[in-house]
Amino acid sequence: MTLDDFPCLLRQSAADDLPVRVVHAVRPAQVPHLAALIGAPAAAFAHDAGFGATHGQVLLLPGEKGVDSALLGLGDGQEGGACDPFVSGVLPARLPAGAWRVLAPTDVAADDIVLGFCLGAYRMPAFGRARSEGTAAARLVVTEQAIGAAQVAACMCQARDLINTPPNLMGPADLAHVAQDTLLPLGAQVRVITGDALQAAYPTVAHVGMGSDRPACVVVAEWRGSTADANAPLLSLAGKGVCFDTGGYDIKPASSMLRMKKDMGGAALMLALARLVMLRDLPLRLELRLGCVENSVSGHAMRPSDVIVTRSGQTVEVGNTDAEGRLVLCDLLSEACDSAPDLLLDAATLTGAARVALGPDLPALFSNDDAVAAHLLAAGDMCADPMWRLPLWDGYREWLRSSVADMNNISSRPMAGAVTAALFLRNFVKTDVRWAHIDTYGWNDSARPGRPEGGESLCLRAAYGGILKIFNFEDRIGH
Ligand code: BES
Ligand code: MN
Ligand code: ZN
Repeated sequence: MTLDDFPCLLRQSAADDLPVRVVHAVRPAQVPHLAALIGAPAAAFAHDAGFGATHGQVLLLPGEKGVDSALLGLGDGQEGGACDPFVSGVLPARLPAGAWRVLAPTDVAADDIVLGFCLGAYRMPAFGRARSEGTAAARLVVTEQAIGAAQVAACMCQARDLINTPPNLMGPADLAHVAQDTLLPLGAQVRVITGDALQAAYPTVAHVGMGSDRPACVVVAEWRGSTADANAPLLSLAGKGVCFDTGGYDIKPASSMLRMKKDMGGAALMLALARLVMLRDLPLRLELRLGCVENSVSGHAMRPSDVIVTRSGQTVEVGNTDAEGRLVLCDLLSEACDSAPDLLLDAATLTGAARVALGPDLPALFSNDDAVAAHLLAAGDMCADPMWRLPLWDGYREWLRSSVADMNNISSRPMAGAVTAALFLRNFVKTDVRWAHIDTYGWNDSARPGRPEGGESLCLRAAYGGILKIFNFEDRIGH
């Protein structure tokens, strides 16, 4: 991946002969002193136009030949803390075509400007529509150093694409193909397990997939960094890739089903994370497992009250066919533990309850290890990509009791649903494996700077930064 892969970016050397206009990124406190920055006439114009440097405010400044330069408001909120890495996301849609440079206060990271710009330049895939590619867009002039932020943006935007793609075009096999096409060129070994082999190795994934004519599969990718030997730490990732969740026989009401193409958001996030780890060539061994499956209704779909023998040998009663995500993940977690990973991380759009507790912008984090949780939370705080920890509260374990199996897939009480889902998963994780579980929403309900409405890879940067901390690669933070 090079800067040439990003149409919204223009490398410095290629911009030498072009007129490059400037965006001045400013805070409200700088507004009274704008004249020193942009000259008295432009400052008077900004004043008359009501420019107050509020978050995401853009003002185009006129010159003799059209737009001469622009102002971007950074807002007040973030001083002293991490800059909002999304604010420059307003620029691609607002700036006239041409080459642009952003001049920001010294405490604003150049990487954040690049990341926000790339995320703001994101466009939905065309889905067969003709798209007029005619008008050249605004491009950000960057140095080679921008590649780091651009890689993050590429991983996030691929996850967005996967989530946003309509479910008829993104079935289990399609998701597996994208994973394969993404990871093979980066040097991973990739297997896609289907059919009888799937039934044998991942009986719960196969069981969830029974109702769909589109066969379920599991993607297993293995990779090793170029400087990692056989003893290098092992990072194991697992993702819920439910390409559409109707709820099964416990069918969802129309309003809840409408968004369920995003139920592969955990898989999209873990694929993005795996890709970023590989692009950065971390000195790790990596395993990735994605459970790709559709939760459908049909004459051969799983029933409420079915009992499944899981990979681990523990039996599960299907109390509710809509609690399918934990069934998809449990066999992946069991297998992941066989390799004794140094960190096991899973992500899933697992429960509506996590949204009730924390809303759409805060993925819920669970971990059996306080240090792991602390590192992930701290990393999220550092890069304005927060998560919030919820407890693996032992007292609720008995809510998953079943009279016919070792456990039920739903809780007997309508409370703490994100916690009981995480407790279910914990039954499949060896106690000596450091494990973290992310219950995410995977979606922006409304458009904000750099965050268009639709699929989102929340907490990718937090998870990556957390991994750097957990494995003591701190010298790589910010690179
Ligand atoms: N995919 C859903 C969870 C979900 C719902 C995520 C809305 C994001 C937004 C999951 O498979 C599900 O249906 N969970 C049920 C579990 C219940 C039946 C125990 C839920 O949360 O209602
Ligand atoms: Mn469900
Ligand atoms: Zn689901």
